[in-house]
Amino acid sequence: MSYIEVKNSYKRYQMGDTEIVANNNVSFEVDEGELAIILGASGAGKSTMLNVLGGMDVNDEGQVIIDGKDISGYSEKQLTKYRRKDVGFVFQFYNLVPNLTTKENVELASEIVEDASDSIDVLNNVGLKDRINNFPAQLSGGEQQRVAIARAVAKNPKILLCDEPTGALDYETGKQILQILQDMSRKHGATVIIVTHNGAIAPIADRVIHMHDAQVKSVEINPSPEKIADIEW
Ligand SMILES: Nc1ncnc2c1ncn2[C@@H]1O[C@H](COP(=O)(O)OP(=O)(O)OP(=O)(O)O)[C@@H](O)[C@H]1O
Ligand SMILES: [Mg+2]
Repeated sequence: MSYIEVKNSYKRYQMGDTEIVANNNVSFEVDEGELAIILGASGAGKSTMLNVLGGMDVNDEGQVIIDGKDISGYSEKQLTKYRRKDVGFVFQFYNLVPNLTTKENVELASEIVEDASDSIDVLNNVGLKDRINNFPAQLSGGEQQRVAIARAVAKNPKILLCDEPTGALDYETGKQILQILQDMSRKHGATVIIVTHNGAIAPIADRVIHMHDAQVKSVEINPSPEKIADIEW
């Protein structure tokens, strides 16, 4: 049994009289410690799937089994515990707390979990050592994204879910971040899922889940993922 198993999952949104099917019979698996990429164009249903996996949204039908437990049947209380304990989430649009500094935003992790990493160490890793006392509004988009990544990584989560983590970053910084995310899987055993529309990133993954039009079109397993230094976009 895989660590993550999504089985025939549906998510529908009601918009007035029309129903939008954002996830249409989605099924895939991800093994423990893997780096998986969900690849697809804008509107394909990637963020919807990631939100369901992270327990921030609930599907309408189907199973979402994480480590043997179907979270689609969880109560609000169970979902809260799951989100706090097991999941690190990097949002597509950062979600930093505006009146907390860089360092304080990352320190939020240690208020949630017991074995959080040192905030300065993690900020150092994402290249933000010199920005620890700045507020989000004083940071560039790419810097804010790196704070968001540091905050998620500092929790040492079992599952790290990242929505377009390199979207706002230049090439070099993007590669640094991908390296951190790959290390989370390779060195720390976290199961990492990256959502992106950038196909050039796909070769670094152990598994690529192709989404199109709310559905999974294909899944590729990559026995020898490329080094991040060797990919280009
Ligand atoms: N809360 C919502 N209410 C109504 N419709 C929604 C909602 N969230 C997403 N959708 C719709 O569901 C579909 C899938 O959206 P989703 O955000 O999952 O796509 P995505 O693959 O992440 O796209 P992008 O690459 O642009 O971020 C879209 O048509 C979107 O408009
Ligand atoms: Mg999205």
